[in-house]
Amino acid sequence: MEIPFAEAYRIKMVEPLRKSTREEREKWLKDANYNLFGLKSEQVYIDCLTDSGTGAMSDRQWAAMMTGDEAYAGSKSFFELKETIGRLTGFEYVIPTHQGRAAENVLFSHLVKAGDIIPGNSHFDTTKGHIEFRKATALDCTIDAAKDTQLELPFKGEVDCAKLEKALAEHAEKIPFIIVTVTNNTAGGQPVSMKNLRDVRAIADKYGTRIVFDSARFVENAYFIKTREEGYADKTIKEIVKEMYSYADGMTMSSKKDGLVNMGGFIATRHEDWYEGAKRFCIPFEGFLTYGGMNGRDMAALAVGLDENTELETIETRIKQVQYLAAKLDEYGIPYQRPVGGHAIFVDASKVLTNIPKEEFPAQTLALEVYLEAGVRGCEIGYILADRDPVTRENRFGGLDLVRFCIARRSYTNNHMDVIAAALKNVYDRRHEIKRGVKIVWETELMRHFTVKLERITE
Ligand code: F0G
Repeated sequence: MEIPFAEAYRIKMVEPLRKSTREEREKWLKDANYNLFGLKSEQVYIDCLTDSGTGAMSDRQWAAMMTGDEAYAGSKSFFELKETIGRLTGFEYVIPTHQGRAAENVLFSHLVKAGDIIPGNSHFDTTKGHIEFRKATALDCTIDAAKDTQLELPFKGEVDCAKLEKALAEHAEKIPFIIVTVTNNTAGGQPVSMKNLRDVRAIADKYGTRIVFDSARFVENAYFIKTREEGYADKTIKEIVKEMYSYADGMTMSSKKDGLVNMGGFIATRHEDWYEGAKRFCIPFEGFLTYGGMNGRDMAALAVGLDENTELETIETRIKQVQYLAAKLDEYGIPYQRPVGGHAIFVDASKVLTNIPKEEFPAQTLALEVYLEAGVRGCEIGYILADRDPVTRENRFGGLDLVRFCIARRSYTNNHMDVIAAALKNVYDRRHEIKRGVKIVWETELMRHFTVKLERITE
């Protein structure tokens, strides 16, 4: 028989998990005001809230934690990290930061001013936040197909080049750079093809602008190029990564995802002027240039993590686990953003809880039901997260209403995937009995989903 696919690692250290009863979860959820961010991690059996900073480091990374060098200036670990990033991406200049949003803050402080427009493919919340905070506009140029969850496209996270070119033709002087997010988290962890990256480069060159890659999950993107795009099957992940970055001018990185570390980020670029500009903001916001927001030991572990994750067996193990979970959902007929992306399953709540009106937040209701069912914590990426319109103060019901179940890297086994799938199946099977959702009893003006207080509607 064919030898089945299995993990390219074995487990050396474990963290015991506490299982709970439904009665306990009912109480904890009530105490948390029906907001899953309000739960303590011990109240969660399988945590799918995020894949950010939740992965397991390897023995080589832990060894690097011991050899990392804690110097305020000139740490050898910084130079190891800089060498690794340079080798993988071709970027000469590196500024470490404490996480991805800090990289955005430092770089955008230099590049973005009031009135600017930054086109891109589904800017991540913090990216958008850092643009809007500077009174500039984040212009979404994602392909329309990304909004149809049931459409199967190999590269559903791409930039729509017609939309991008229109923006540049009309406003080139207001566009300091284009941002391309690889993979596209907001659209469901969907990848961007090499062809699309090349096309975006050609448009940028035509109008004389530059390109930043928001790179949190760049290795996942490279894996999809290898497995889905013609001409890349025989290339190594490292070769694909190198070609991807040949089309960019710089990158912002949240190392908490594809860097395989629990905290960290960086900016890297090929341009001295961007480096010189960003440097001025690194020192007051983050720290001296050779540590930014990081410890020496963490930079050392990150250098190893970047190298390790750009090896096929590491990234393949990760993506295949996400695909394993997706295959279970297919078996049970549960609708999600198709095809499954790199880091998570995004269940389409509007197609599951069809009895619940949008005013009662179907995705949030679904996330609560799955937690109650088996202690699995997902995250609403829907109408609550969308906040209210800043002018009309009405809820924004225009987008998708999804529940994201992220898979932490190297943390859970496929048995855990079976539990997530079974929890979803049980809720899915009784979906017609779930008739009422939740109502908001307290909220903040911006990013309300983190702290919103909810009540279940029972009558
Ligand atoms: N860019 C993307 C595409 C992201 O997904 C994130 C974070 C960031 C930037 C910001 O990085 O958290 O290190 O400051 N995403 C996490 C998530 C929080 O759950 O998707 P950060």
